[in-house]
Amino acid sequence: MLKVKDLNVKYGEIHAVRGVDIEVKEGEIVSLIGANGAGKTSTLGAIMGIVKAKTDGEITFEDKDISKLSAWDRAKLGMTIVPERARIFPNMTVYENLEVGGYLVDKETFKERLQFVYNLFPRLAERKRQLALTLSGGEKQMLAIGRALMLSPKLLLVDEISLGLMPKLVDEIFKVIVGLREKGITVLISEQNTKKALQISDRAYVLQNGKIFKSGSSKELMEDEDIKRAYLGV
Ligand SMILES: Nc1ncnc2c1ncn2[C@@H]1O[C@H](COP(=O)(O)OP(=O)(O)O)[C@@H](O)[C@H]1O
Ligand SMILES: [Mg+2]
Repeated sequence: MLKVKDLNVKYGEIHAVRGVDIEVKEGEIVSLIGANGAGKTSTLGAIMGIVKAKTDGEITFEDKDISKLSAWDRAKLGMTIVPERARIFPNMTVYENLEVGGYLVDKETFKERLQFVYNLFPRLAERKRQLALTLSGGEKQMLAIGRALMLSPKLLLVDEISLGLMPKLVDEIFKVIVGLREKGITVLISEQNTKKALQISDRAYVLQNGKIFKSGSSKELMEDEDIKRAYLGV
């Protein structure tokens, strides 16, 4: 579904992503693991077309070269991103936030998407008239995901959603991601939380200083000695 070949991202002199290859097949949950500064956000940003940097490499989505397309054109083809520290609009209601997410879709589709999001997150449905600032941390993340889902993505990119969340909420939000796959959405997540990411993903790529250090099935990587030592604290 998604193929990234020899991706490079440069912020001036800073070469943040160096020759990265990533593949995501339909129906998979794939994780991109790495410490702070490894290049996760730059990689996902380049895939979505939102990174403000010089990028090169080949990015194909459903066999179509998208590397020169705008973020909006990529979204129209069926991929959206939940950015790192996704900002919801605190002084707007839950419904209004979702409306922003879906403002470019037609009325019928909007209704259908809204229902999809409310079914997925009944808690958002119960709170639809509430100001977003009154939501709990986990509910805010659900809203950020819900907003991205308003555009009917086939592929959802999720950038470090667990950042700053309490462990209990991390479990909850990862359950949501597993649930997305059950709804037919393919997911590429970036995470510093290696253990949780490996638990919910089929395959993973480990980024170190902008390069893929290891990749493989999540099961394999969980047993890998280097990964255990450097990322799992075993
Ligand atoms: N806008 C920017 N300008 C300059 N350097 C940046 C910018 N954004 C990220 N970087 C650098 O690129 C590298 C990778 O950053 P990032 O992709 O945010 O990593 P991660 O998401 O894994 O923490 C880091 O060294 C970071 O300092
Ligand atoms: Mg990041």
